[in-house]
Parts: sequence; C-alpha cells; structure tokens
Amino acid sequence: MFKTIIEPFRIKTVEQIRMTTVQQRKEMIREAGYNIFALRSDDVIIDLLTDSGTGAMSANQWGGIMRGDESYAGSPSYFRFRDSVQDITGFEHIIPTHQGRAAERILFSAMCKEGDVVPNNSHFDTTRANVEFRGAMALDLPSPELADMDSDFPFKGDMDLAGLRDAFNMYGAERIPLVMLTVTNNSGGGQPVSLANMRAVADICHEYDTPLYLDACRLTENAYLIKQREPGYAEKTVREIVRQMCDLAEGCTMSAKKDAIVNMGGFLATRDAALAQEHRVLLILTEGFPTYGGLSGRDLEALAIGMQEAVDEDYLHYRITSTRYVGQHLRDAGVPLLWPPGGHAIYLDAKRIAAHLEPTEYPGVAVAIAMYEAGGVRACEIGSLMFGHLDPVTGTETAGPRELVRLAIPRRVYTQSHMDYVIEVVTKVYEERESLAGYRILEQAPFLRHFSAKLEPLG
Ligand SMILES: Cc1ncc(COP(=O)(O)O)c(C=O)c1O
Repeated sequence: MFKTIIEPFRIKTVEQIRMTTVQQRKEMIREAGYNIFALRSDDVIIDLLTDSGTGAMSANQWGGIMRGDESYAGSPSYFRFRDSVQDITGFEHIIPTHQGRAAERILFSAMCKEGDVVPNNSHFDTTRANVEFRGAMALDLPSPELADMDSDFPFKGDMDLAGLRDAFNMYGAERIPLVMLTVTNNSGGGQPVSLANMRAVADICHEYDTPLYLDACRLTENAYLIKQREPGYAEKTVREIVRQMCDLAEGCTMSAKKDAIVNMGGFLATRDAALAQEHRVLLILTEGFPTYGGLSGRDLEALAIGMQEAVDEDYLHYRITSTRYVGQHLRDAGVPLLWPPGGHAIYLDAKRIAAHLEPTEYPGVAVAIAMYEAGGVRACEIGSLMFGHLDPVTGTETAGPRELVRLAIPRRVYTQSHMDYVIEVVTKVYEERESLAGYRILEQAPFLRHFSAKLEPLG
C-alpha cells in the first residue's frame, strides 16, 4: 500500500561512525598505498567491502549468546544448532566449522583426489583454492546469460547445462566426484540460480550417479529471488523453496557469516552417513570435537537463531528490496552496473565508467578510490588488480576478465539514508568520471596481490 520499504527492525545499540573530510581521506588512502584493504575500518564512513561476518545480530541472537553452553562435548548449544540447521535444510548430518572455507577443506579432502574435476556455476575464491589444493581442477560453468550485463534475464547465476554435459563427456564421471552449485553465485555477480536450473543440474548428476552439493552461503536470499522471479513460486514460502533447493542436493557447505547473520561460523551438511563420519575425523584434526567444530557454544546458539531469522520473509523483502533500491537509483542516474541486482551486492561496471582507462591502469581501483575520497565509502575492486597478474618473464601486466567494483551490503547494518548517501557518492564519481586517473602497481605479492599491493596514481 505504501511505497516506502522500512527496515523491519528497531535500533537498540548504535556504533558511532567517525566522520572525515575529503582532505583527510585523500591523505589516509595515500598512506594506505592506495589499497582500500590497508585502510583502518574506523577511517571508513560506509563500509561495503563485504557482507561476510559484518551483519548486525538481533536481540534474540545476543540473548542466545548468554545461553551458550561451553561444554567440550555434547553441549545443548550444539543440539539447538543441529536441530535448527536440519529444520531449515533437511540434511541429516550437520558438522559445525569455524567458517565456510573449513567446511570446503573437509568436503574436498574427503571427496577429491589429484586429477579430479569439480564443476561449479562459479567457484568462490576459497572454494577454488581448496579444490586446487587437492590437485583437482575447479571448473567454472557460468550461464552464458551472465556475459550480458544489461539484460533483464532473472537468473544469471544459473549453471551452463550444456557445459556440464560436455564436462561429463570430456572428463568422464569417474573424474567428477561431485558437482557444486553456488547459491547465490557470488563470483558471478551475486546472481540467483533458478529452481528449474537446479533441477536440470540434479538430473544430469543423477544420470552420472554424481552427488550435487550446494555452496549455500546465500541460500535464503536465492530462495527469495526465486519467489520473486520464477514463475510458479510466488505463493510458496521461502522455507518451502529452501527445502526444495536442498532436496535436490546431497549436502552443502555454508558460511553462516552471510545469510545466517553471525559474525563467525559455518557448517558442512550431508545425507551420507559414511562420508559424515570421515568428515568428523578430519574436523577433529584441525577444527575441534564434532559438537563444536572450532566454534564456541555461544556462536552455535547465535547461528541456530540466525538460521531461523534468515527465512523471515519481512526481513528478506527488506533485504532484497533495499539492494535493488540502490541498483535502480544508480541505473536511473546512468551508472553502468550488472543488471538485475542480485541479493547481497551491486556490481558497478568500472570498464564503462572509466572507459578512458586501460585495464592495466586499473579502472576498478580508480572508481573504488574515488568513492572513498569523495564520500568515505569503501567498496571492493573485482578486476585486473584482483584477477590480473604480472608476467615474471616479460615483466608486463595481464588484465583480468572483468573490471567490476562490488558494493556488498552488510545485513541489518545500514539504513535507507545510508544507502541514499552511497547513491549520491557513486553518482558524483560517475558524473566526474572523465577526471578519474589510472593507477600503477609499485609492490605486489605473487598470490592474492590485491590484499597487500601498494599503488600510486598515474600522472
Ligand atoms: C560463495 C562463497 N563461498 C564460500 C565463502 C567462504 O566463506 P568463509 O569466508 O566463511 O570462509 C564465501 C565467502 O565470502 C562465499 O561468498
């Protein structure tokens, strides 16, 4: 009835934001070697670097923290966590881990060997690293629709089905120990996967007797986008849709730092009892006893409650609508971005914003730094600084496949006026785009260079 979508919560505790001037920020980013990862977070006004572990817990979750039972074995907090995850996902064996990548390491250690191939719509970087660490190949099979940034196609996170069939034909089922679907597809622009696509992927997996696992960090945001966008699901509840998604899979890994709105935590889930036993052995080696898995009892309580809050449809409506609100306003202002917006982030197309810069002049860095200098907004470059590399033989820089800047929105942290401010800052940077200068790398590490590189502006 009313067009304003309000935050479906009241604020009980506040965290002061330190306001800074353009001049101060120019000095601070210079001191940080023009690397936004090297900034101190209290020098940032609105922090959109990641939505992982940055959410605001509810009063109920904080209440759960006090209830946490810190027994080494058999804590009631573990059972509340297990029951809550089983209730939402339907998976039988639930193994707590300190975060998503620990679940990935255990899953791939148990299932993959050298020479194997793991298809995924798009691997997240830790997922890829854990597959490759086993000597297996991480094969990305994103939907061809993802290549068109401007189309209205609603499920750009889908897996390329023809590509999956080709993979089975080319490598043979014996080299594919599992197939993964990342929901939503973070490396593919936070785009959702449709249930129709999941079903088709599951059918192919059945044909080859290969298990399907979900990378379920943003499971409930994906489910809400299915409800909004996929014909036939408008009347289903998010709980029902989540269950339909999980019913197609043998298990999942989950970083609970996303949809389950905890600052730390994750889990591995499976229907396979023998595999679960193997997972628990690996868990004990590095994470902890199977009823805490590297988490405190209080973390398990917060996670148990967060899983239930993650399927609350008033919350999801606000969450998905506010992400779209930012995307729609920026689009109306002419700012090029990946369309339609996914669940957790807006991805700006820095290649088109700073069209006068070569990829090796880091247009994404130029846009991200301009946003910080202009308004203290921190976002993440996903472009040639992150995915390009220095050729050690020729000493030349190679560009990455895309030049994006990700504005990841923490859950329940910022209000609409914060988002209006972000829209103003990005719009100003866009209007003044012709003055954006490129960057040159002064120092870089051989791996994951974007975290520690030092840069300087050109000219
Ligand atoms: C899709 C996806 N998978 C896995 C992970 C890894 O989770 P964690 O950071 O908890 O290890 C992330 C984290 O950002 C992610 O976005």
